Amino acid sequence: MRNNFTTIFFLILLTVFSCNAQGSRVEDQYLSKLTLMEKLSILTGPGNYQPINLKKPVSGVAGYINGVLNQDLDLPALKLADGPAGVRIAQYTTAWPVGTLLASTWDTELVLEVGKAIGQEAKEFGIDFLLAPGMNIQRNPLAGRNFEYYSEDPLLTGKIGASMVTGVQSNGIGSTIKHFVANESETNRNYLNVVSDPRTLREIYLRGFKIAIQEAKPWAVMSSYNLLNGTYVNQRKDVLTEILRNEWGFSGLVMSDWYAGNVYGDPDSAAKQIKAGNDLIMPGLVIDHLRDSYEKGFLTEDEIDKSVLRILNKAIKTPSYNSYNFSNKPELEIHTKLARRAGAEGMILLKNDGFSLPLDSESKVAIFGVAQNATYKGGTGSGNVNSEYVIDIITGLSNRFRVNPELKTFYRNYFDSNKTSRPDPFASIPIYSVDEASFSKNKTLYNLLEESAVSDDSAIITISRQAGEGQDRQNIRGEYLLNENELEMIIMVSKAFKEQNKKVSVILNIDGVIDTTQWSGSVDSILLAYMGGQETGNQIADIISGDVNPSGKLTQTFPKKYDDVPSAKTFPGVDVNKDGDPDYIINNEGIYIGYRYYTTFDKEVSYPFGFGLSYTTFDISGSKIVKNTLEGGESGLISILTNVINTGEIPGKEVTQVYIKSPEVKLDKPVIELKSFKKTKLLKGGDSEDLIFEIPAMDMASFDMDRNLWILEPGEYSIYITSSSDISKTVPIIFSIKKEIIVNEAGDILSLQEDLKPSDILSIFK
Ligand code: BGC
Repeated sequence: MRNNFTTIFFLILLTVFSCNAQGSRVEDQYLSKLTLMEKLSILTGPGNYQPINLKKPVSGVAGYINGVLNQDLDLPALKLADGPAGVRIAQYTTAWPVGTLLASTWDTELVLEVGKAIGQEAKEFGIDFLLAPGMNIQRNPLAGRNFEYYSEDPLLTGKIGASMVTGVQSNGIGSTIKHFVANESETNRNYLNVVSDPRTLREIYLRGFKIAIQEAKPWAVMSSYNLLNGTYVNQRKDVLTEILRNEWGFSGLVMSDWYAGNVYGDPDSAAKQIKAGNDLIMPGLVIDHLRDSYEKGFLTEDEIDKSVLRILNKAIKTPSYNSYNFSNKPELEIHTKLARRAGAEGMILLKNDGFSLPLDSESKVAIFGVAQNATYKGGTGSGNVNSEYVIDIITGLSNRFRVNPELKTFYRNYFDSNKTSRPDPFASIPIYSVDEASFSKNKTLYNLLEESAVSDDSAIITISRQAGEGQDRQNIRGEYLLNENELEMIIMVSKAFKEQNKKVSVILNIDGVIDTTQWSGSVDSILLAYMGGQETGNQIADIISGDVNPSGKLTQTFPKKYDDVPSAKTFPGVDVNKDGDPDYIINNEGIYIGYRYYTTFDKEVSYPFGFGLSYTTFDISGSKIVKNTLEGGESGLISILTNVINTGEIPGKEVTQVYIKSPEVKLDKPVIELKSFKKTKLLKGGDSEDLIFEIPAMDMASFDMDRNLWILEPGEYSIYITSSSDISKTVPIIFSIKKEIIVNEAGDILSLQEDLKPSDILSIFK
């Protein structure tokens, strides 16, 4: 009997061991073959030096993950390239529309296609990880990298980001969502302390990342430069481990932003990052720091192993690891067409009085402004792309219309003799800036204006603005405000053409929000083109000609004036030590950013979030709730059906948006919040489409930071299904919740700095 028991016991043991051996992951096997120094070299990039075991180099990458070469292992180095508007390497690649323009399509399918194409370029040019998309929130219009980001709204940011990640990763390379988290400005970005209360972080700044992580499972997250409530984000375990991994289930690797976390100033910074869950220090060169921290017992081998395993877990999926023989020949021609389509789909018609647009292809057009030559395809810095060409606005329009030849020559010559170039290491095409030509000081230009107002059929004025990494913009003339010459151009061109009963349009080739209040009344139509990548001029011509009916909608509000922006008082932060750089910035407006603020505090805006005109008209009707299981908590949802009809004659697409007004019991709430959206297919005049919106309870919930609970408060909810955040003419669908629903419990983390209470920072109400 006893013998039998012993045999059975040994059999069980054997089974357990053999299962473990079979189930043991490849990365666990690799780990056992690594020395301590090999492990540490995986955790810190090689800086500008040759990475360990680089097989096939790619010129112009942003960084590497070191490989391993020992008698048991041959793991290749991995290559990382930026960025959000296309693959940024030394070779020519497609320059895509910037993030804001892509998001303005509100078309998740289209962004998926773009993501697939960007991912294919990355893979075929030998890249393992793309350092994109950028998913920070457009908190303030002056933030220098807003063009890389999607929106002032976290739901839209999350959904567009998720599509991009899914598309990129469908190629078998990694996508790195960045900059996690609270990196909403550039001034003193490496050392700025962002002060924010937990509710605001959860509902606004973390939310988009959460959606992308849960819907698209990115292989990597890039932590941000800034401190959050007093500690560098890349050293915060609550953010990088408790929220990201434990609450959201992220299973990828976290890398630091380049040189972040005072990594060369604090010898323990790298170790603090690893301990917090930031697995990879970029661009690296801190292996000695890690070794010292290990030797003095600050960093344990267990902590090192965890990070190494997370990196290896993704490394073994990469093209380099799998010896993928990249072709250097992605489908660039197909991508050019897609880039053109995507940009045109996002461009936003802000104004179109008297149907001044589209223009007839036979019409004679006078084109003004230096931006026709100084056309920007995108912003500067790591979001720039090394493309072979940029179609400038004048080229795009000349291919379609009879443009005034004398004006064209005037501006060409003016551009050539006045341009100054702005250095950007990865700009194959120099980025030029040119001061606008003055009509009052330039007799030739003035005469050309007088003649063209008589001979041409209409006028187009071009305005451009550049922005980039490392610097925020300013609320001054020539930046947020138009400068004297630009205003003079608008006034004089409008006067001359209006006297002849002719229309004037403005094209904005800009990085983000600028002032329109001072001049929009003088012109008939305004096309917000943002920065469309290498096909910018063609996309603009597609819209101006009517070949494409505009269907883009604003993902950020255009306020009446900068001072109306709820963060205007605190941006870009407070300089405590008077060294010229802000030391901290307070998210004083809490959750009331963008339209959440303007709608709640009745501030009139120039163009509301979600707004954009079409050459046709739509009607939204028959909206009703078809399912409501919200009582079920986290698995519950509400489902709404609606019908959208094209009531005009020109085929077009409509972005249909669902906003919800929630009751205020304990928590105050914005008047409305975007909870879902969908773009229709191309509808011919008279055609309609049924749309279904499924809104999970979690997307509707608010965060009660006293109890660390996501809740739906009891009371009446109003659902507005509209074509913009201006709900004034929309009749809502009403439903009620009888008693509080707890949707999800969160950990008691993300505390404020010890010296602060939430009431100290929410200064918007004071
Ligand atoms: C930027 C990142 C970028 C990295 C590598 C940093 O300065 O903030 O967005 O991915 O450089 O180029």
